[in-house]
Amino acid sequence: MNNPLTISPREGDTASTVAQYHRYIDELLCLAQQALVEKDRDLALQFWQLHIAMLSIHVAIEDDCLAQVSGEEQKQWRWPASLYVAEHAKIIQFGSKVEARLKALPEVLTAPQIIAEIDFQRSYKNLLQHHEEREEIALLQEMASTSPAVMALFDRRISQQWQDCYHRQKHSLTLLQQHLVRLKG
Ligand SMILES: [Fe+2]
Ligand SMILES: [Fe+2]
Repeated sequence: MNNPLTISPREGDTASTVAQYHRYIDELLCLAQQALVEKDRDLALQFWQLHIAMLSIHVAIEDDCLAQVSGEEQKQWRWPASLYVAEHAKIIQFGSKVEARLKALPEVLTAPQIIAEIDFQRSYKNLLQHHEEREEIALLQEMASTSPAVMALFDRRISQQWQDCYHRQKHSLTLLQQHLVRLKG
């Protein structure tokens, strides 16, 4: 099994590649929460910002591709494109709220502050994970059969932009992970 922070795109298997990006995005969130548990606000914020950076690029490409699927093609889908687009907007907005809360916290956190943040992030995590699951069990399968041209475009965009972001994040992510390991002692 892949480490969730390692993405190995599989040629011709867009669904698997997208799922790997979802696990990567989930793992960045989990690292932000681990930093919170270690009482380090700055570290949590930096993991969170990597999470949001990848998520924003991810969502922008999905929105762009969804806009190119006709209503006729969507008739065979379990959920319409508008639902995915609305969820994207909600997730991004919620993610910004989490970031604003993290920025407003002191650098060294108390136990009640940590609990309050993790509780607040629970709803965000549920929203994000349900959305990803919807895409994995329905959208990606349906888009491949109803809209192969859009799926091919999606595949090209993924390989260009998501991979660029993934490679850009690698160095800072390694440094942040090392910092987290030191905190855990
Ligand atoms: Fe999405
Ligand atoms: Fe997605």
